[in-house]
Amino acid sequence: MPELIPEPRYARFAREGDGDDGADVCVLDDPLLDAGPGTGGTARWLRRELGAATGWELPAPAAERTYGGGGRAVIRLVLRPELARSVGAESYELHVTRRWVLLEGADPAGLFYAAQTLRQLLGPEAYRRAPAAPGREWRLPVGGVQDGPRFGWRGMMLDVARHFMPKDGVLRYVDLLAAHKLNVLHLHLTDDQGWRVEIKRYPRLTEVGGWRPRSRWGHRASPLWNETPHGGFYTQDDIREIVAYAAERHVRVVPEIDVPGHSQAAIAAYPELGNTDVVDTGALEVWDDWGVNENVLAPTEAVLRFYEGVFEELLELFPAEVSPFVHVGGDECPKEQWRASALAQERIRELGVDGEDGLQSWFIRHFDGWLAERGRRLIGWDEILEGGLAPGAAVSSWRGYAGGIAAAEAGHDVVMCPEQQVYLDHRQAGGADEPMPIGYVRSLEDVYRFEPVPPKLSAQAASHVLGAQANVWTEVMENQSRVDYQVFPRLAAFAEVVWSRLPDPDERDYAGFEARMGGHYRRLDALGVDYRPPGGPLPWQRRPGVLGRPIEGEPPNV
Ligand code: ACM
Repeated sequence: MPELIPEPRYARFAREGDGDDGADVCVLDDPLLDAGPGTGGTARWLRRELGAATGWELPAPAAERTYGGGGRAVIRLVLRPELARSVGAESYELHVTRRWVLLEGADPAGLFYAAQTLRQLLGPEAYRRAPAAPGREWRLPVGGVQDGPRFGWRGMMLDVARHFMPKDGVLRYVDLLAAHKLNVLHLHLTDDQGWRVEIKRYPRLTEVGGWRPRSRWGHRASPLWNETPHGGFYTQDDIREIVAYAAERHVRVVPEIDVPGHSQAAIAAYPELGNTDVVDTGALEVWDDWGVNENVLAPTEAVLRFYEGVFEELLELFPAEVSPFVHVGGDECPKEQWRASALAQERIRELGVDGEDGLQSWFIRHFDGWLAERGRRLIGWDEILEGGLAPGAAVSSWRGYAGGIAAAEAGHDVVMCPEQQVYLDHRQAGGADEPMPIGYVRSLEDVYRFEPVPPKLSAQAASHVLGAQANVWTEVMENQSRVDYQVFPRLAAFAEVVWSRLPDPDERDYAGFEARMGGHYRRLDALGVDYRPPGGPLPWQRRPGVLGRPIEGEPPNV
């Protein structure tokens, strides 16, 4: 049985040697690619990716006979919309006979996933960017797959604010998500430590907010500093490229601009955005430390207008067809400055809202309505529930399941991403060798046993769980290789959770998954992923002497 990840709903393959005379395998030697109507995207992807690994040109059949006797083997791509009714959206079938391979998608996304499965079946060398040994024979087992996802939102959030990931790295992550049949990349574009997207009308957001002179090396308890300046941002053209590249791979990019907290980089660039009557915001710099920061946006009309300007440019870059959702953050907004600010207190009276918490929800509700007027949907961290939301708004449930349960019961759509289960910045083993260890110990098995739909949800509320995402906060991930280490192999387990219809957590066949991971590690090797090996970090993956959080003896979530 091929080691497919995520596990398909149904698969049946001959074992090699089952049939007489090679009857159980399809040998592919520069096959023809017969792409039916509407399948051009997947045809292009196959030519590009399989072409690179195999040297195949994958020519169209032209006048040649495509099936049977004597000719070259054929890979045929077909859209079969009725599959959507029987198996669901994004579903596919894959059939392999001795002479041909048929990929059928319910829709273009389903067809693309059929092609991803085909690539897995061809073996780890199919992930190379140049052919392996010339004359190598590519074999597929005869058989078939019928498959489709459990959830429509299968995501990963990448924090490119704390540590910037250059464009190339983001494109690479799009490919890595797609290889695992994941379909949402949530980009956390702004935070206290950096503003990462060009906004043409406010150039200082990236000129000033796009870099910091130094960074704490390790987490809060660490006394060490990395004195190398850190920075970078995506130009608007970079964003267009990322969005288009992702769309070709059926990955939706959801942008996040975090308000009204996590905003010190913006305030450093434009001091009038801060609470100028209680702090000298002109003296603030982009933050070089980690944690929750008290420098939050001022609750003024001028600040709302400023951010409308930001979102106007953002909506152009992230068209509704790609993602109707726009993430506004809303998490961890300390209220000290609003309590101390005469201006903020005056706003509370003017608006008639319930104290500082009421101000926060006034802020979020403003953008809820503003986005809805433009045909978009607001999504935010679960703090946005406090104070009520417009019906179309959705919630990313991060402080456990409770926010998601409350939101779903109230009829809001929910993306489950509880920090206790799927925060991939958290350490994956308890040993002293884990680099800059953070938070809970969450092993590959723990992630495999994550269940996005809590059992106590009513069926009606459960239908509001759009899916789940794994979140990758990068305070202690200074480069792509550190990101890889935290993300893999756990993202493979996560992908199976959101794609496959696994039984209840305690009944999941983790041993079976681990056995399939044997083959999957070879794919990750071919892709150049710096995953955490099952035996623990390699010497250069360790960060000896650099403290994470918590330190010895503290509870896991401080
Ligand atoms: C979060 O982890 N502050 C959303």
